[in-house]
Amino acid sequence: MTQQRSQHWYGGDDRNAFIHRAWMRRGLPDEAFDGRPHIAIANTASDLSPCNSHLDELATSVKQGVWEAGGIPLNLPVVSLGENQMRPTAMLWRNMAAMAAEELLRANPIDAVVLLGGCDKTIPALLMAAASVDLPAVVVPGGPMLTGAFRGAPLGCGTDVWRLSEEVRAGTLARADFLAAESAMIRSRGHCNTMGTASTMACLAEVLGTTLPGIAGIPAPDSRLLAMAQEGGRLVVDMVSADRRPSTVLTRGSFLNAIVALAAIGGSTNAVVHLLAIAGRVGVDLSLDDFDRAGRDVPLLVDLHPAGRFLMEDFHRAGGMLAVLAQVEDLLDPTALTVTGRTLVEHVNGAPTWDATVIRPRDEPLKRDSGIAVLRGNLAPDGALVKPAAASAHLLQHRGRAVVFDSVEDLRARLDDPSLDVDEDCVLVLRGCGPRGYPGMPEVANLPLPARLLAKGVRDMVRVSDGRMSGTAYGTVVLHAAPEAAVGGPLALVRNGDPIVLDVPARRIDVDVPTADWAKRQPSAAMRSSLAAPARGWERLYVDSVMQADRGADLDFLVGSSGDGVVRESH
Ligand code: FES
Repeated sequence: MTQQRSQHWYGGDDRNAFIHRAWMRRGLPDEAFDGRPHIAIANTASDLSPCNSHLDELATSVKQGVWEAGGIPLNLPVVSLGENQMRPTAMLWRNMAAMAAEELLRANPIDAVVLLGGCDKTIPALLMAAASVDLPAVVVPGGPMLTGAFRGAPLGCGTDVWRLSEEVRAGTLARADFLAAESAMIRSRGHCNTMGTASTMACLAEVLGTTLPGIAGIPAPDSRLLAMAQEGGRLVVDMVSADRRPSTVLTRGSFLNAIVALAAIGGSTNAVVHLLAIAGRVGVDLSLDDFDRAGRDVPLLVDLHPAGRFLMEDFHRAGGMLAVLAQVEDLLDPTALTVTGRTLVEHVNGAPTWDATVIRPRDEPLKRDSGIAVLRGNLAPDGALVKPAAASAHLLQHRGRAVVFDSVEDLRARLDDPSLDVDEDCVLVLRGCGPRGYPGMPEVANLPLPARLLAKGVRDMVRVSDGRMSGTAYGTVVLHAAPEAAVGGPLALVRNGDPIVLDVPARRIDVDVPTADWAKRQPSAAMRSSLAAPARGWERLYVDSVMQADRGADLDFLVGSSGDGVVRESH
C-alpha cells in the first residue's frame, strides 16, 4: 500500500517530523499520526456570506463521519464570497478563492478534502481548487433556504426581488409594500431557494459526480442534510484508500451529463463559465459549442423560479436531481463515475418523481428545447449566450435599433431620462461589463427597462451585454458576449440607432451595418476612458490575466493542474 500523503509530514523521527507532529498534538492522540488519513474540511462559513453562515454545523457532522471511518478531520476555513454583499461583484474573487483554496490544500498535510459551499461562487471555486490539486474530494452543499411567504404567496429570493422592484418602477406596487416583503423573503438558513446559480451549481456538482447522490436540494435546515454530511465524512476516508480523485470523476462524459442536467432544470447561465473553468482545471476539453450541442434537445422539466412557479423545497419534495435525471437517463454518459465509485446512472436507476407538477415527465415538459443557446455573429465572434426558457418567445427573432450604454453608471443616469429615444422594439446594449471591463463580469446584463415603457405594460425587451446576469433573473437577454468591449470586441463599436438582429433559432447575433462603415468605427471616448488598469492588488493581477467568458473567465496561469506534490520542507 502506498504511503499516505500526510505521512510525508508526520512519518519518521527527524526534526521536521517532530515539529509537524508536536504542534498538531493539541488533543490528537499518538495514533493520529500512525498513517490514518487526514481530512481537511474546506469550510466557507462566514457571517458575511449569509447563505453559508450555517456551515460550521455541517462541518461538525462531517467531522463525526470522518472519525467514525478512522480518519482525522481538520477544519480549514477558506475564502468565502457572499454574493449579495461584495462589491463590485463576487465574481471578481472567484478565481482568488479558488487559488487560495488550491494553495492551502497543497501546502498542508492532508490526504483528502470535504468541500463545504453554498452561495453562488463558493462551490465553483472549491471545485476549481480541488481539480487543480487533485486530492480525493467530496462536495457537501449547504442546501437552499425554506420557502418564505408574503401575504399568502410564496416568495422566491432573487427572482421576486427583480419582479417586485420592476413593479415599483412601473407604479403598480407601493414602495411601502415592496419594503414590507423584505423581512419575509429569507425564511431560514441556506442559499437562495430559486433555481439560481447556487442551486444550479449544487445540482450540477451532484451530476458531475462530486457529491453523494441525492444530496442537492435538501433544504439547509433539514436534518437529513446533517445525516448526509456525516455520510460524506465517512465516504471521503474510503476515497483515500480507493485513490478516487477529481480526475477520476471529472471526465468529459460527466461534463456533458452536467450540460444535459443544466437544460433539464432550466439552470443558471452562470453555470457555463463555472463548468468551463472547472473543466479547464482538470484538462477536459469543453467548449461553448458543447453546451449548445448537448443541451439543445433537452426539455425543461423543472417548474422552478425563474422559469416556472415552484422553489427548491418543492424540488426536493418532488424527488430532487435523481428524479430529474431519471427522465433523461438515455441522454447521460453511462460510464461517468461518482465519488462513491459507482456510475451516476447506477444511482439514478429509475428514481421516482413524487410530484409531477414540480418535476415534469419527459413527454409533458414545461418547455421543449430548453438548453442554453450559444449565439455567434459579428457582435460576438467568440460567442454569447441566451436562455430561451427565461426569454419571451416573441423576441427570439427580433430586429431593433440599438440604444447603447457605456457602463452601468451611464445606464442609471439616462435610463429614465424622458429625452432618451427608446421604445419597446429597441435593443438595449450595455457594455463595459465583461471580465476586464468592470472588472469581474458582474450580474448586470438583465438591465432594467425604462420606467415609461414599464408603465405602458412592457415587461421584456431584447438586451445585449458582455456581462452576466443573476441565475434568478429572466428576460430576453443576450449575455457573456465575447470578446468583451474592453478588449476591443465589436460591442465597443456599436452606436445608437444601429440595427441589431437577434435570431435564436439560427444561433445568430449581428449588427446590420455596412462592412465599409463598420471598418472605420473606433470605440467611443467613454469606452476608452474606462480602461485604466488598476494600480495594485488582486484587481491588478486579475485584469492582467483573466480570460474571456468563452474560456470560463479563469486566470490564464491557473488553467490546468499542479497536483498535490510539495517538494521542499519549511524548516
Ligand atoms: Fe447566496 Fe443567492 S445570495 S445564493
